Amino acid sequence: MATLGFIGSGHVGAKVARLAIAAGIDVVLSNSRGPESLAATVAELGERSRAATPEEAALAGDRVVVSIPLAAHRALPAAALAGKVVLDTMNYYPFRDGRIETLDSGELATTEFVQQHLAGARLVKAFNNISDQHLLELARPAGAADRTALPIAGDDPEAKASAAELISRLGFDTVDAGPLSESWRFEPETAAYLAAYSADPDAAIALFAELGKAVRAGTPPLQAPPVGPGAPLPAARLRTLLDGTARKLTADRVLA
Ligand SMILES: NC(=O)c1ccc[n+]([C@@H]2O[C@H](COP(=O)([O-])OP(=O)(O)OC[C@H]3O[C@@H](n4cnc5c(N)ncnc54)[C@H](OP(=O)(O)O)[C@@H]3O)[C@@H](O)[C@H]2O)c1
Repeated sequence: MATLGFIGSGHVGAKVARLAIAAGIDVVLSNSRGPESLAATVAELGERSRAATPEEAALAGDRVVVSIPLAAHRALPAAALAGKVVLDTMNYYPFRDGRIETLDSGELATTEFVQQHLAGARLVKAFNNISDQHLLELARPAGAADRTALPIAGDDPEAKASAAELISRLGFDTVDAGPLSESWRFEPETAAYLAAYSADPDAAIALFAELGKAVRAGTPPLQAPPVGPGAPLPAARLRTLLDGTARKLTADRVLA
């Protein structure tokens, strides 16, 4: 079974790694502080996991999950990621990442912006629109009646097929939202983002509004609060949400 690399092994990276291991896939984790700092995570994940540098994680297999703050994306090892299928989980949060004019204006979607740095990589936007908590809660085997769907977007059809195959093994159906230029359809605060996977979507939206107030007051929380229980989102419903959603530019967002 092919190995899956990870650059970023925090909330999202470690959860996706856990799903991969459950599916029988070996994982190579990395972060900014070095392999030693991942000892506890590796011990928890077990023998299918090991820690390495970002370059080593990028080279470990054909597919790499990139899950770091967007502000750090220029540190990604572009040469090592050239030719790889890169699953980009990153979201743009200006209060955390700083202002990026091409994203604020809607000239580029976030993953198109990342593609500028990773020119040779085959990017697929994935896992960015669901909380790490719901990822673990909602994963189901193929064919389960209550299987949840995740959107993907990308410009390389083979890379997208590879990502869909991986995500299926990890426990989710996928819905193709189109090329990277359409990937704004599941960026923050669109209809398919986060609350769509909540048992109480209104509570999730209210939580975002509260976070937005705290950010505007200059007191952003150090850690995002728990999002409440998840609820399955079937592929047909996700398709409807993706098709019907409006673009949310930074200026229109409650949390930015
Ligand atoms: N949390 C969620 O529910 C969620 C859901 C969907 C998408 N996202 C998005 O996914 C991304 C990751 O979110 P997260 O919540 O997992 O963040 P997180 O818990 O803060 O983890 C970030 C990871 O990135 C690593 N990292 C930071 N700078 C790096 C660099 N220059 N090189 C290599 N690794 C680096 C960190 O390692 P060190 O600690 O060693 O710096 C850490 O392992 C963000 O863009 C976020 O917006 C988050």
